[in-house]
Amino acid sequence: MIKIAPSILSADFANLERDIKKVTSADYLHVDVMDGAFVPNITIGIPVVKSIRACTDMFLDIHLMVDKPGRYVEAFAKAGADMLSIHLEADHPAHIAQALKIIGECGVKRAAALRPITKADALLPYIEQLDMVLVMTVEPGFGGQAFMHSQLDTIRRARAIIEQYNPACELEVDGGIAPKTAPLVVEAGANVLVAGSAVYGAADIPGAIAALRG
Ligand code: DX5
Ligand code: ZN
Repeated sequence: MIKIAPSILSADFANLERDIKKVTSADYLHVDVMDGAFVPNITIGIPVVKSIRACTDMFLDIHLMVDKPGRYVEAFAKAGADMLSIHLEADHPAHIAQALKIIGECGVKRAAALRPITKADALLPYIEQLDMVLVMTVEPGFGGQAFMHSQLDTIRRARAIIEQYNPACELEVDGGIAPKTAPLVVEAGANVLVAGSAVYGAADIPGAIAALRG
C-alpha cells in the first residue's frame, strides 16, 4: 500500500494548524527542517515541531537537512518526532552511525536520506538498522522543483538493497512528486511519497492525496 506524506513546507506557516488539518487523510506529515548550512534555506526547528506535536496525532516524519544531525536528534525526538531522517552526506560515517543509534534509543524510527549525488550503495553500512530510506528526487532546499528522472535508477537500486538486506524498511521519495511522476517512482519501488506543492497547491486536497496514492 502506498503512503502519502504531505510536506508542510508548502503550507501557510501563519496558519499551520489549519493547514495540517487539511491533510489528515494522508499517512505521514512530512516536516522539512533546514539549517541554512547543509542546504541554502532555513525553515523550522525544535520549538515548532513541539507545537505541531501538540496539535496533531499524525505520524511526524521529520526530514533533517542539517549538518552534523547527531547534535539535534535527541531534541527532535523529545519534541515529538515519530521518524527522523538524517542525510548520509551531513557527517562522517561513524557520526552518522552514532546518530542513528541515538534515534533508535529514543524510541524513534530511523531513516537515512540521500542527496541526488549519493549512490544507493552508500546505504549498505546502515541498511539493517533502518526503518526507512529517503531518496531525494530534487536537490534538497526548496519546494516546487522539477522531478529528476535520473533518480529513478537510485530508487530501483535502493529497492534492491532493501529487498536483499531489510525487506521491512520503507522507501520514501521526496521532490517533484505529482500525479505524473508518482506512478514512475512507485514502479521503481517507492512506497512512501512526499508531496508539497502537489498537495497544498490543489483545490481539492483530499482528492489530490487520493490521486497520488493511485
Ligand atoms: C525539499 C523538501 C521537500 C519539499 C518537496 O528539500 O525536502 O520535502 O517540500 O516539495 P515538492 O513536493 O513541492 O517538490
Ligand atoms: Zn523533505
